[in-house]
Amino acid sequence: MTALVTGGAGYIGSHMALALLERGEDVVILDNLTTGVRDLVPDKAQFVQGDVGDARLVRQLIAEHEVDSVLHFAGSTVVPDSVSDPLRYYANNTCNSRTLIEACIQGGVKHFIFSSTAAVYGATEAEMIDENAPKIPANPYGRSKLMTEWMLQDAASATSLKYIALRYFNVAGADPLGRTGQSTPRATHLIKRACQTALGRLPYLGIFGVDFATPDGTGVRDYIHVSDLVAAHALALDHLRAGGESGAFNCGYGHGFSVRQVIGAVEQASGHKLAVKELPRRPGDPPAVVADPGKLKGRLGWTPRYDALDQIVRHALEWESRVDAR
Ligand code: UD1
Repeated sequence: MTALVTGGAGYIGSHMALALLERGEDVVILDNLTTGVRDLVPDKAQFVQGDVGDARLVRQLIAEHEVDSVLHFAGSTVVPDSVSDPLRYYANNTCNSRTLIEACIQGGVKHFIFSSTAAVYGATEAEMIDENAPKIPANPYGRSKLMTEWMLQDAASATSLKYIALRYFNVAGADPLGRTGQSTPRATHLIKRACQTALGRLPYLGIFGVDFATPDGTGVRDYIHVSDLVAAHALALDHLRAGGESGAFNCGYGHGFSVRQVIGAVEQASGHKLAVKELPRRPGDPPAVVADPGKLKGRLGWTPRYDALDQIVRHALEWESRVDAR
């Protein structure tokens, strides 16, 4: 039995590949290296450079390696880019996923774990978002992922494919052993940028909006350590392999931190003040996005190990100080 990890040279996919290998699984990574980094591919994984939209290649890999499970991380993730170039996002995230799902069904793959996003919910008034909240994505990125969830739901009803969609809140941090981390060039994530600022690689950190209806006026998000997220994937895979039902699960801790609190944590970890600049809100940014993780804990038995902002920031900063300046 082999697990196919699409996007396994990327930030979250490379952490997943390491975790699967540690569990003794055979791992094949398919990544086109547009944002992935070849050096992040673990030595013991088999690496194939190619596209998830290449049906022939995917069918060949499934047959050749007797793939029973696919973990689909490959995709585009920058919300503002999805607004300026929506068709690229629909092509890469939605159309290529359709091709991949079809090839999986044709190849007899039974289990499919999909990287979805909190962006499927859009703006919400709820203090904590549960899986039944309305899905009204505010941008093409969220819509491109929600459409893939719908395809999986419909395909699972019509075939023997079972799936779990994991809706990520704000993924951050890095492998506690320092083997991999966020290496995407020009990353837009807050914690990554704050660490780059702390290391003098950015002249200042822009704070996008200080007039939100939040305790300190800055945006609040539920930051989840990448290793806890990967653990959720492993549980989801075990659940499907044990005959469990398809479905969608939120991945977050259930509490949020503001941009200013994140800056404080990075200042604490790095030992010096960050240069910051208060800027207007980024278009489409909701004030607060916090998960209700009750379903993930209750149904899959997920127990977070790294639910502490200072630890997330420390791991991110350790990784950032190791990678080349970008
Ligand atoms: C969004 C998506 C998420 C996606 C992620 C990656 C939603 C609800 N979530 O998260 O699914 O995976 O993008 O692109 O759409 N901020 C600053 N300065 C910065 C960077 C960010 O102040 O330099 C602020 C943002 O305004 C926000 C918070 O920090 O309040 C987090 O931003 P970011 O890390 O970009 O993630 P989201 O936009 O929350």
